[in-house]
This record gives sequence, C-alpha cells and structure tokens, in this order.
Amino acid sequence: MIKIAVLVSGNGSNLQALIDANLSGSIVGVISNKPDAYALKRAEQANIQTKVIEHKTYPTRELFDDAMHQQLIEWNIDLVVLAGFMRILSEKFVRQWQGKMINIHPSLLPLYKGMHTHQRVLNTGDVYHGCTVHYVTAELDAGPSLLQGVLKVEQHDTVATLANRIHELEHVIYPQVVEWICTNIIQYQSDQVLLKGKPLLKPLQFCQI
Ligand code: GRF
Repeated sequence: MIKIAVLVSGNGSNLQALIDANLSGSIVGVISNKPDAYALKRAEQANIQTKVIEHKTYPTRELFDDAMHQQLIEWNIDLVVLAGFMRILSEKFVRQWQGKMINIHPSLLPLYKGMHTHQRVLNTGDVYHGCTVHYVTAELDAGPSLLQGVLKVEQHDTVATLANRIHELEHVIYPQVVEWICTNIIQYQSDQVLLKGKPLLKPLQFCQI
C-alpha cells in the first residue's frame, strides 16, 4: 500500500476530503509548518500522526526542507501531497521528491500561477475558472498537470463564491488523482506522466458547467 504524507499550513479541507475518500493508499502522516493549523486537528481526529516543523525556527529554507525530508524518510513515504502548504520549496527538496509530489492550485494552469487567482479571473472577465492537480517541479506551479476541475464563472460570482465553488471542485479532483496514483493508473516515469501506461500529453478535465 502506498504511503502518503500530506503537507499543510491552514484549514485542511483538502486533507479532510482525502481522509474521507478511503483511499487505496494510507495517509501515514501530516506535516504542518504552522502549529495552529486547523488541519492538524483534522488529522488527530482521524488518528493520523502529525508533525509540526516550524519554518521560522530554521535559519534557511534548505534546512527547513531538510527537516521535512528527514521526517518523510522516517515515515517511509511514497507520495507527498501538498494541500494548502504555503511555503516555497527549495530546488533540492523538489528534486528529492520529483515524480512523488503533487499539488493542487486554484486556477486552470498554466493560467494564473501564484496568488489571488479568483480576483485575477474576475478582473480579466474569464468565462471559465477551475483548479489543477499537478506534479511539483522546480518552477512554481509549472509541473505536468494531471486533472483539472472546470467551472463556469457566473455573473454574480465574487472572490468568496468562487473560492467556495473551487474548493468543492478540489475536494472531488484531488482524492481522485491520489487514488489513480495509488492504483498505478497514473505513473511518473523518466520525467513523463503516464495514464494507463500511455503518455498523458494534456490534463484530464472534470467539468461542472
Ligand atoms: C486550496 O484552495 C488549494 O488550491 C491551495 O490552498 C488551498 C488549501 O485549502 N493550494 P485547504 O487548506 O485544503 O482548505
């Protein structure tokens, strides 16, 4: 069974969705860089071990990442799932976990990398918005995309309503991708994503329109 670690910084609604999904893999540990992250409570309630590694207590990003790496090795982790983890990772750490680490981002990548995605979508007047699960590579929000959730932006949408609607989509697509990885439907081999053994050239899409 694949051993999963989830890295969090905040509320952890995606962690909850992963817990509730009864995955074929096992979530063996949750790491937070914030001691007061609500995600830690969710993990404890699900009897998942937690570890707080406060970035503030490390003099450099690399040393903080090394501490996380050590913990992941100790837990014998196969897959690292970033779920609202609000730290930029060092190149070394990303290389150590390349092909074994995924993230969810609240936009239809490659559109809107970085922060404030809902506001930027509204400013541009886009018809569609969504979220993307992707492998993590050294460039921010730029690794191979696996699955996107797509929704239609409604006239009455605000940043708050979009945030809610995107979260609902995230809770569908993130557990789905993790399950596909746990069951080898998605594989990462020689810098390439395979879906059922064939190269995945563009992300799959789940549309709620
Ligand atoms: C999500 O919107 C995700 O796209 C982004 O961080 C947020 C985490 O939310 N990476 P939660 O902590 O899982 O509720």
